[in-house]
Amino acid sequence: MKIYFGSERIPCSLLNESFNSLIDDMQEGRDMMLRELVLKNRSCRRFYEDHAVERGTLEELVDLARYTASAGNLQPLKYLLSSDRRKNELIFPNLAWAGYLTDWPGPPPGERPSAYIIILGDTDIARSFGCDHGITAQTIVLGAREKELAGCIIASIKRDELRGVLRIPGRYEILLAVALGKPKEEVVIETVGADGDIKYWRDTGAVHYVPKRPLEELIVEPL
Ligand SMILES: Cc1cc2nc3c(=O)[nH]c(=O)nc-3n(C[C@H](O)[C@H](O)[C@H](O)COP(=O)(O)O)c2cc1C
Repeated sequence: MKIYFGSERIPCSLLNESFNSLIDDMQEGRDMMLRELVLKNRSCRRFYEDHAVERGTLEELVDLARYTASAGNLQPLKYLLSSDRRKNELIFPNLAWAGYLTDWPGPPPGERPSAYIIILGDTDIARSFGCDHGITAQTIVLGAREKELAGCIIASIKRDELRGVLRIPGRYEILLAVALGKPKEEVVIETVGADGDIKYWRDTGAVHYVPKRPLEELIVEPL
Protein backbone atom coordinates (compact mmCIF):
# COMPACT_ATOMS: atom_id res chain seq x y z
CA MET A 1 0.00 0.00 0.00
CA LYS A 2 1.36 3.40 -0.95
CA ILE A 3 0.03 6.81 -0.12
CA TYR A 4 0.45 9.37 -2.87
CA PHE A 5 0.65 13.08 -2.25
CA GLY A 6 0.41 14.98 -5.49
CA SER A 7 2.99 13.48 -7.80
CA GLU A 8 5.17 12.27 -4.90
CA ARG A 9 4.90 8.54 -4.22
CA ILE A 10 5.64 7.61 -0.63
CA PRO A 11 5.66 3.91 0.28
CA CYS A 12 4.00 3.37 3.68
CA SER A 13 7.13 1.63 4.92
CA LEU A 14 9.07 4.91 4.57
CA LEU A 15 6.61 6.94 6.60
CA ASN A 16 7.70 7.47 10.17
CA GLU A 17 5.54 6.43 13.10
CA SER A 18 4.16 9.84 14.01
CA PHE A 19 3.20 10.50 10.42
CA ASN A 20 1.44 7.16 10.29
CA SER A 21 -0.53 7.99 13.43
CA LEU A 22 -1.50 11.33 11.88
CA ILE A 23 -2.81 9.45 8.86
CA ASP A 24 -4.74 7.13 11.24
CA ASP A 25 -6.31 10.13 12.95
CA MET A 26 -7.25 11.65 9.61
CA GLN A 27 -8.77 8.37 8.52
CA GLU A 28 -10.82 8.05 11.71
CA GLY A 29 -12.10 11.58 11.21
CA ARG A 30 -12.88 10.85 7.62
CA ASP A 31 -14.90 7.73 8.59
CA MET A 32 -17.10 9.78 10.88
CA MET A 33 -17.59 12.43 8.24
CA LEU A 34 -18.51 9.81 5.65
CA ARG A 35 -21.22 8.28 7.87
CA GLU A 36 -22.68 11.71 8.56
CA LEU A 37 -22.60 12.57 4.87
CA VAL A 38 -24.27 9.30 3.87
CA LEU A 39 -27.02 9.76 6.46
CA LYS A 40 -27.60 13.35 5.40
CA ASN A 41 -27.64 12.40 1.76
CA ARG A 42 -31.34 11.75 1.25
CA SER A 43 -33.01 11.88 -2.14
CA CYS A 44 -34.42 15.36 -2.49
CA ARG A 45 -37.29 16.26 -4.81
CA ARG A 46 -38.09 19.85 -3.86
CA PHE A 47 -35.55 22.61 -4.36
CA TYR A 48 -35.07 26.37 -4.24
CA GLU A 49 -35.13 26.57 -8.01
CA ASP A 50 -33.83 30.12 -8.19
CA HIS A 51 -30.63 29.07 -6.40
CA ALA A 52 -28.29 28.62 -9.36
CA VAL A 53 -25.95 25.66 -9.54
CA GLU A 54 -23.06 26.77 -11.71
CA ARG A 55 -21.72 24.65 -14.53
CA GLY A 56 -18.35 24.68 -12.75
CA THR A 57 -19.97 22.90 -9.78
CA LEU A 58 -21.30 20.20 -12.11
CA GLU A 59 -17.85 19.81 -13.62
CA GLU A 60 -16.38 19.40 -10.12
CA LEU A 61 -18.90 16.64 -9.39
CA VAL A 62 -18.04 14.80 -12.60
CA ASP A 63 -14.37 15.27 -11.79
CA LEU A 64 -15.06 13.54 -8.45
CA ALA A 65 -17.02 10.75 -10.14
CA ARG A 66 -14.23 10.00 -12.59
CA TYR A 67 -12.07 8.63 -9.76
CA THR A 68 -14.55 5.90 -8.84
CA ALA A 69 -14.31 2.19 -9.56
CA SER A 70 -15.17 1.00 -13.04
CA ALA A 71 -15.52 -2.62 -14.21
CA GLY A 72 -12.39 -3.52 -16.18
CA ASN A 73 -11.42 0.12 -15.68
CA LEU A 74 -13.13 0.78 -19.01
CA GLN A 75 -14.62 4.09 -17.78
CA PRO A 76 -17.37 4.07 -20.41
CA LEU A 77 -19.54 6.75 -18.81
CA LYS A 78 -20.03 10.24 -20.22
CA TYR A 79 -21.99 13.10 -18.69
CA LEU A 80 -24.36 15.69 -20.08
CA LEU A 81 -24.56 18.81 -17.92
CA SER A 82 -27.44 21.23 -17.60
CA SER A 83 -27.42 24.29 -15.39
CA ASP A 84 -29.47 26.71 -17.47
CA ARG A 85 -33.21 27.24 -17.36
CA ARG A 86 -33.80 26.48 -21.04
CA LYS A 87 -32.13 23.07 -20.98
CA ASN A 88 -33.60 22.28 -17.54
CA GLU A 89 -37.08 22.87 -18.94
CA LEU A 90 -36.38 20.37 -21.71
CA ILE A 91 -35.22 17.73 -19.23
CA PHE A 92 -37.83 18.06 -16.46
CA PRO A 93 -40.95 16.72 -18.27
CA ASN A 94 -39.05 13.58 -19.22
CA LEU A 95 -38.41 12.46 -15.64
CA ALA A 96 -40.84 10.66 -13.29
CA TRP A 97 -40.86 11.68 -9.64
CA ALA A 98 -41.57 9.70 -6.46
CA GLY A 99 -43.61 6.78 -7.83
CA TYR A 100 -45.03 5.92 -4.40
CA LEU A 101 -46.52 9.40 -3.96
CA THR A 102 -49.29 8.75 -6.44
CA ASP A 103 -51.11 12.03 -5.80
CA TRP A 104 -47.96 14.14 -6.25
CA PRO A 105 -47.06 14.99 -9.86
CA GLY A 106 -43.53 16.09 -8.96
CA PRO A 107 -42.08 19.43 -7.94
CA PRO A 108 -44.05 22.51 -9.09
CA PRO A 109 -42.40 25.49 -10.82
CA GLY A 110 -40.15 27.23 -8.30
CA GLU A 111 -39.27 23.94 -6.57
CA ARG A 112 -37.71 22.17 -9.53
CA PRO A 113 -34.03 21.23 -9.80
CA SER A 114 -31.60 23.99 -10.79
CA ALA A 115 -29.33 21.54 -12.57
CA TYR A 116 -29.01 18.03 -13.92
CA ILE A 117 -26.26 15.59 -14.74
CA ILE A 118 -27.40 12.97 -17.24
CA ILE A 119 -25.22 9.86 -17.06
CA LEU A 120 -24.63 8.28 -20.47
CA GLY A 121 -23.01 5.00 -21.45
CA ASP A 122 -20.68 5.27 -24.42
CA THR A 123 -21.36 2.17 -26.52
CA ASP A 124 -18.16 2.81 -28.49
CA ILE A 125 -16.35 1.87 -25.27
CA ALA A 126 -18.57 -0.85 -23.75
CA ARG A 127 -21.72 -2.82 -24.60
CA SER A 128 -23.04 -2.83 -21.05
CA PHE A 129 -22.30 -0.63 -18.10
CA GLY A 130 -22.77 -2.97 -15.14
CA CYS A 131 -23.16 -0.94 -11.97
CA ASP A 132 -20.67 1.77 -12.94
CA HIS A 133 -23.44 4.36 -13.24
CA GLY A 134 -24.82 3.54 -9.80
CA ILE A 135 -21.40 4.12 -8.31
CA THR A 136 -20.88 7.42 -10.08
CA ALA A 137 -24.43 8.62 -9.41
CA GLN A 138 -24.01 8.02 -5.67
CA THR A 139 -20.64 9.75 -5.75
CA ILE A 140 -22.21 12.75 -7.47
CA VAL A 141 -25.01 13.10 -4.90
CA LEU A 142 -22.57 12.67 -2.01
CA GLY A 143 -20.32 15.32 -3.54
CA ALA A 144 -23.34 17.58 -3.98
CA ARG A 145 -24.37 17.06 -0.34
CA GLU A 146 -20.90 18.02 0.78
CA LYS A 147 -21.47 21.30 -1.07
CA GLU A 148 -24.79 21.86 0.80
CA LEU A 149 -26.72 20.90 -2.30
CA ALA A 150 -28.93 17.83 -2.65
CA GLY A 151 -29.88 15.48 -5.42
CA CYS A 152 -32.12 12.72 -6.61
CA ILE A 153 -30.99 9.82 -8.77
CA ILE A 154 -33.67 9.18 -11.39
CA ALA A 155 -34.01 6.08 -13.55
CA SER A 156 -37.63 6.60 -14.65
CA ILE A 157 -36.84 8.56 -17.77
CA LYS A 158 -38.70 8.95 -21.05
CA ARG A 159 -35.50 8.04 -22.83
CA ASP A 160 -36.57 8.47 -26.44
CA GLU A 161 -38.10 11.86 -25.73
CA LEU A 162 -35.09 13.04 -23.75
CA ARG A 163 -32.74 11.89 -26.49
CA GLY A 164 -34.82 13.85 -28.98
CA VAL A 165 -35.00 17.15 -27.13
CA LEU A 166 -31.32 17.10 -26.14
CA ARG A 167 -30.19 15.64 -29.48
CA ILE A 168 -28.17 12.94 -27.76
CA PRO A 169 -26.34 10.86 -30.41
CA GLY A 170 -27.35 7.19 -30.70
CA ARG A 171 -23.98 5.91 -29.52
CA TYR A 172 -24.82 7.05 -25.97
CA GLU A 173 -27.19 5.00 -23.84
CA ILE A 174 -29.16 7.13 -21.38
CA LEU A 175 -28.54 5.46 -18.02
CA LEU A 176 -29.54 7.80 -15.19
CA ALA A 177 -30.38 11.42 -14.50
CA VAL A 178 -29.21 13.14 -11.35
CA ALA A 179 -31.35 16.15 -10.41
CA LEU A 180 -29.56 18.74 -8.29
CA GLY A 181 -30.30 21.91 -6.39
CA LYS A 182 -30.50 23.63 -3.04
CA PRO A 183 -32.74 21.42 -0.88
CA LYS A 184 -36.12 22.72 0.23
CA GLU A 185 -37.35 19.41 1.58
CA GLU A 186 -37.12 17.98 5.08
CA VAL A 187 -36.42 14.24 4.99
CA VAL A 188 -36.55 11.90 7.97
CA ILE A 189 -35.18 8.36 8.10
CA GLU A 190 -37.29 5.82 9.99
CA THR A 191 -37.01 2.07 10.50
CA VAL A 192 -39.20 -0.25 8.44
CA GLY A 193 -42.05 -1.38 10.70
CA ALA A 194 -43.41 -4.86 11.45
CA ASP A 195 -45.65 -4.63 8.37
CA GLY A 196 -42.51 -4.53 6.20
CA ASP A 197 -43.71 -1.48 4.25
CA ILE A 198 -40.74 0.20 2.55
CA LYS A 199 -42.74 2.93 0.77
CA TYR A 200 -41.63 6.45 1.52
CA TRP A 201 -44.43 8.80 2.52
CA ARG A 202 -45.14 12.43 3.42
CA ASP A 203 -47.01 13.92 6.35
CA THR A 204 -49.41 16.85 6.13
CA GLY A 205 -46.50 19.26 6.58
CA ALA A 206 -44.80 17.74 3.48
CA VAL A 207 -42.03 16.20 5.58
CA HIS A 208 -40.74 13.20 3.63
CA TYR A 209 -40.17 9.92 5.55
CA VAL A 210 -37.90 7.15 4.23
CA PRO A 211 -38.11 3.72 5.90
CA LYS A 212 -34.81 1.83 6.02
CA ARG A 213 -34.47 -1.84 6.96
CA PRO A 214 -32.63 -2.44 10.24
CA LEU A 215 -29.07 -3.80 10.20
CA GLU A 216 -30.05 -7.16 11.72
CA GLU A 217 -32.32 -7.87 8.73
CA LEU A 218 -29.51 -7.32 6.27
CA ILE A 219 -26.84 -9.69 7.47
CA VAL A 220 -27.25 -13.25 6.23
CA GLU A 221 -25.76 -16.03 8.32
CA PRO A 222 -26.69 -19.40 6.79
CA LEU A 223 -24.75 -21.50 9.35
C1 LIG B 1 -31.16 3.51 -9.32
C2 LIG B 1 -32.14 4.45 -8.68
C3 LIG B 1 -33.21 4.91 -9.43
C4 LIG B 1 -34.09 5.84 -8.88
N1 LIG B 1 -35.10 6.34 -9.67
C5 LIG B 1 -35.92 7.27 -9.16
C6 LIG B 1 -36.91 7.86 -10.00
O1 LIG B 1 -37.04 7.52 -11.16
N2 LIG B 1 -37.68 8.83 -9.46
C7 LIG B 1 -37.56 9.24 -8.17
O2 LIG B 1 -38.28 10.14 -7.74
N3 LIG B 1 -36.63 8.69 -7.34
C8 LIG B 1 -35.81 7.73 -7.82
N4 LIG B 1 -34.83 7.18 -7.02
C9 LIG B 1 -34.70 7.60 -5.63
C10 LIG B 1 -35.28 6.53 -4.68
O3 LIG B 1 -36.67 6.61 -4.68
C11 LIG B 1 -34.70 6.78 -3.25
O4 LIG B 1 -33.33 6.47 -3.27
C12 LIG B 1 -35.43 5.94 -2.21
O5 LIG B 1 -36.76 6.38 -2.05
C13 LIG B 1 -34.74 6.02 -0.85
O6 LIG B 1 -34.60 7.34 -0.42
P1 LIG B 1 -33.17 7.90 -0.04
O7 LIG B 1 -32.39 8.04 -1.33
O8 LIG B 1 -33.40 9.19 0.64
O9 LIG B 1 -32.53 6.87 0.84
C14 LIG B 1 -33.94 6.26 -7.53
C15 LIG B 1 -32.87 5.79 -6.79
C16 LIG B 1 -31.97 4.90 -7.35
C17 LIG B 1 -30.80 4.42 -6.54
